[in-house]
Amino acid sequence: METLRLGRTAIEVSKMGFGTGPWGNKSIWGFGDGYAERDVKKAFKVSLDAGITFFDTAEVYGDGVAETILGEVLREYGEGRKLVVTTKFMPQITRHSGEDVLSALEASLYRLGLGAVDLYQIHFPLPPSPVDVWAEALKEAVDRGWTRAVGVSNFDEIEMRRMHEALAKRGIPLASNQVRYSLLFREIETNGVMAACRELGISVIAYSPIAQGLLTGKYGPENPPPLARRDRYKDVLRRLPHVVAQLRRVGAAHGGLTPAQVALNWTMAKGTIPIPGAKNAEQALENVGALGWKLTDQELASLDEACSG
Ligand SMILES: NC(=O)c1ccc[n+]([C@@H]2O[C@H](COP(=O)([O-])OP(=O)(O)OC[C@H]3O[C@@H](n4cnc5c(N)ncnc54)[C@H](OP(=O)(O)O)[C@@H]3O)[C@@H](O)[C@H]2O)c1
Repeated sequence: METLRLGRTAIEVSKMGFGTGPWGNKSIWGFGDGYAERDVKKAFKVSLDAGITFFDTAEVYGDGVAETILGEVLREYGEGRKLVVTTKFMPQITRHSGEDVLSALEASLYRLGLGAVDLYQIHFPLPPSPVDVWAEALKEAVDRGWTRAVGVSNFDEIEMRRMHEALAKRGIPLASNQVRYSLLFREIETNGVMAACRELGISVIAYSPIAQGLLTGKYGPENPPPLARRDRYKDVLRRLPHVVAQLRRVGAAHGGLTPAQVALNWTMAKGTIPIPGAKNAEQALENVGALGWKLTDQELASLDEACSG
């Protein structure tokens, strides 16, 4: 498996990771209805067997359930493997001090059953704490040996530059910014985040890289996704058939690759590390089929064109 370096750290990750967002979450994903713990555990196992080494979670996913399940599968299947595990701190109005960050990380480590994670991320750039509070807490987490590297998520260019500087003053590189990125949501290409990441040597971790299932080809205007996604993507569904048709055309030229595989490969071609979520082994197996081949420049251009506007 080809690997990539995470930012300017010594941490190597598989070119594609795995997101545990759907694990334990009922309101968006319907955990317990159609898929359950045994399914997501199988998704983990097939991904691991296919060479995926990078696993993303957060304290808020399923209110800690995702971290707990990830801890179980790491113990069950991860023994002796060099895996990269990352989780996140969620700032809140009532939870905004350095001590809050450290106690949250301690609780995450407990749920994961780990002595340290590889990457600890601030989930959202939420006020009211100034960036130096977060930077100092992240440095303390590194000093205590509770994380090897630090990152942010959902930070815009200015917030990210501020965090990069605040950490640099403390001798720590900002390894990554985890942001939404897919063929359907390309705002980081124009809002300065992608360019600044390139300039500063920060990895872009692409979340929702198949647009929460839309780019798999199974949803459309007549067949919207269930629960919270139905409203969220009302407007996007109209232009979806055109995009999926182009994904299918490109997939056919590669011997029958699926829309999801082409869409994930596109995010890697753009220099990001996608972390698709999967509810079961079938989805996970399909997603790893995004690895090991390359879109041509012409195909990239045709996909860019199909998804502009
Ligand atoms: N930092 C943040 O703020 C943030 C926000 C969101 C996500 N994330 C992270 O990024 C990860 C990925 O994002 P995401 O889970 O939101 O969206 P995603 O990876 O774009 O889509 C995941 C969903 O798509 C469907 N799916 C996945 N693979 C499929 C396949 N091969 N065939 C058919 N359907 C498939 C499944 O839902 P259905 O079967 O129900 O359609 C699955 O739950 C998360 O798991 C999480 O780790 C981070």
